[in-house]
Amino acid sequence: MIRHLAIVGATGAVGREVCAIITEGRIRVDRLTLLASSRSVGTRIEVAGRSFEVAETTERGFEGVQYAIFSAGADRARLFAPAAVKAGATVVDNSSAFRMDPDTPLVVPEINPDDARRHRGIISVPNCSAIILAMPVWPLHRVNRVRRIVVSTYQAASGAGAAAMEELRTQTADHLAGRKVTPRVFPHPIAFNLFSHNTAIGDDGYNVEERKVIEEMQKIFHEPHLAIAPTCIRVPVLRAHSESVNLTFERPITPQEVREILSKAPGVQLVDDVSANRFPMPIDASGRDQCLVGRIRQDISQPDGRGIQLFVCGDQLRKGAALNAVQIIELLESMKP
Ligand SMILES: NC(=O)c1ccc[n+]([C@@H]2O[C@H](COP(=O)([O-])OP(=O)(O)OC[C@H]3O[C@@H](n4cnc5c(N)ncnc54)[C@H](OP(=O)(O)O)[C@@H]3O)[C@@H](O)[C@H]2O)c1
Repeated sequence: MIRHLAIVGATGAVGREVCAIITEGRIRVDRLTLLASSRSVGTRIEVAGRSFEVAETTERGFEGVQYAIFSAGADRARLFAPAAVKAGATVVDNSSAFRMDPDTPLVVPEINPDDARRHRGIISVPNCSAIILAMPVWPLHRVNRVRRIVVSTYQAASGAGAAAMEELRTQTADHLAGRKVTPRVFPHPIAFNLFSHNTAIGDDGYNVEERKVIEEMQKIFHEPHLAIAPTCIRVPVLRAHSESVNLTFERPITPQEVREILSKAPGVQLVDDVSANRFPMPIDASGRDQCLVGRIRQDISQPDGRGIQLFVCGDQLRKGAALNAVQIIELLESMKP
């Protein structure tokens, strides 16, 4: 039983998913505090059959809080997480604020649970595309070292938050009704379109999202030289990211070996029905805890048998954020003497 949990950003897409996970009964919380911006003060959210009023996030609002799940962006995390830690809370942060800080563990409980032990008050949840990539790659890497990853993402609108989900809905309706489509949250039309991830491009030509995938995978895997070439694309899917993944292993490996390893991997579910041509789809991954993996085949362009191609879909609001945060709290609770 969690004595006192605070959710910062409780009105957002991720915050509401944390509330949904509590309602499902995965964790039991004695006292729950819901926080957001001043705009949401007074909003009521139903959690586990009880109605809670949202309060404004302030530095003084963390007295007595045991765990605080932050889902309110990097600026808010930098502003309020230190105050939460000072008040005695352990912060699990979904933003990018502290992910690459050497003193902050970046944890996926199925992969690097022991990293959580060395936290100093804050544990970061990795970027959602990195988590969904890491889930099928890690169990393979443990058996046969992965030397190189080429990944293309198909990222859902919900990855950019509740307002972006609404923009996809509104633009789709406007487009179908023949009305003018005006992008507000995204820089380009999202309905009936796709575009390169809406983050800044660095001098090396990679955008911020692609850089996060590279650096965070290396940190989670403890493999600072793991070679990763990502292309991150936003697609008009409401929920659940998809990723096309090409892997080069240290030694030859067959699709059958990959299927056997992944069929036993925690948090991963094989969806690889060749006869029915049924493979992972974001619509099937939505609302699910597991990442769906399929289209497992040899990379025939690598004649030495070291190449594998696969396709993964994972609900980035769940495993890519809210669920991973809740799992970190479960992990910390299980580590208590
Ligand atoms: N969406 C995803 O799939 C995903 C995946 C992984 C990580 N994340 C990360 O999770 C965080 C939240 O993302 P989201 O998608 O849930 O965004 P969102 O739907 O836009 O929600 C943002 C939340 O932050 C709150 N907030 C904004 N300004 C605030 C302030 N000044 N003080 C306190 N709270 C404030 C908002 O409250 P109001 O409603 O009052 O404005 C809202 O609850 C981000 O850091 C994001 O990078 C998101």
